[in-house]
Amino acid sequence: MMNNLLKGKKGIIFGALNPDSIAWKVAVRAHEEGATVTLSNTPVAIRMGETNQLGEQINAEVIGADATNVEDLENLIKKSMEALGGKIDFILHSIGMSPNVRKGRHYSDLDYNYLDKTLDVSAVSFHKVLQVARKLDAINEWGSVIALSYVAAQRSFFGYNDMADAKALLESIARSFGYIYGRERNVRVNTISQSPTITTAGNGVKGFDRLLDFSERMSPLGNATGDECADYCITLFSDLTKKVTMQNLFHDGGFSNMGMSLRALEQYEKGLDKHCACDDEKPSADEHRYD
Ligand SMILES: NC(=O)c1ccc[n+]([C@@H]2O[C@H](COP(=O)([O-])OP(=O)(O)OC[C@H]3O[C@@H](n4cnc5c(N)ncnc54)[C@H](O)[C@@H]3O)[C@@H](O)[C@H]2O)c1
Repeated sequence: MMNNLLKGKKGIIFGALNPDSIAWKVAVRAHEEGATVTLSNTPVAIRMGETNQLGEQINAEVIGADATNVEDLENLIKKSMEALGGKIDFILHSIGMSPNVRKGRHYSDLDYNYLDKTLDVSAVSFHKVLQVARKLDAINEWGSVIALSYVAAQRSFFGYNDMADAKALLESIARSFGYIYGRERNVRVNTISQSPTITTAGNGVKGFDRLLDFSERMSPLGNATGDECADYCITLFSDLTKKVTMQNLFHDGGFSNMGMSLRALEQYEKGLDKHCACDDEKPSADEHRYD
């Protein structure tokens, strides 16, 4: 549905790797709502992924940047202002990656160099984006910046590993920078805590299929899809939400306020005759004890 909610607005969208990416769906919706955007991803993701196809589809310049690299971000933001013909109105940070998850390191046996990387890519990069944008005075008054988060920032989730710590930091950065950017220039900074969603990053989470099913059964409205997340982002980029800032906004069908649902309980009861939900997979003793 097109409502011209972003008519004339300019944005930067990080993280559109392929059509499953949440950022891809946001870019398409932003374009439909009248915005012009630049797209950014790492040079290797641009080479291996489909970001350039999206650029052609929505007539957006694609500018490579490693979001952990301040010089890359300066170049990206300057080039975006040139390409778009002025200051930016909105930014989507849709970036996450954990080498510990990728390499199968258990949370009780983290590689700390990997942890540094997880935190830098998935959380500190958000601070870097905000700091560079502010120093370049790149965002218009009443602009809006969003990063994507997950409820593992507040609660423990099997298999989410060090990404939980990254998301907690990400949400904290939104509050701390939101205060400064709001007070000085009326710029909003929020995180959206999204349901589990089938994407390249999502599939990296251990037991993702079961998490998706559990979350669906627990949420009174069901899991929020990537397309629905894109719709929500559009409202937060629009002028209809000008006083929303420093928030972590749950977009999860109600999951985060549930304790137990009948649909989840019934499924749980079906498995009670088994000794343990892990029976079929024969986990190691350590995994069984700690996961
Ligand atoms: N999929 C889910 O279940 C889910 C749920 C809640 C929140 N999120 C969050 O949504 C965001 C987007 O993930 P997605 O699910 O669309 O997966 P995705 O794999 O499509 O997107 C992740 C993006 O991060 C990019 N990226 C990785 N390292 C980078 C770096 N150094 N610099 C710049 N970009 C880099 C990747 O190239 C990719 O485009 C992430 O923050 C993720 O944690 C996802």
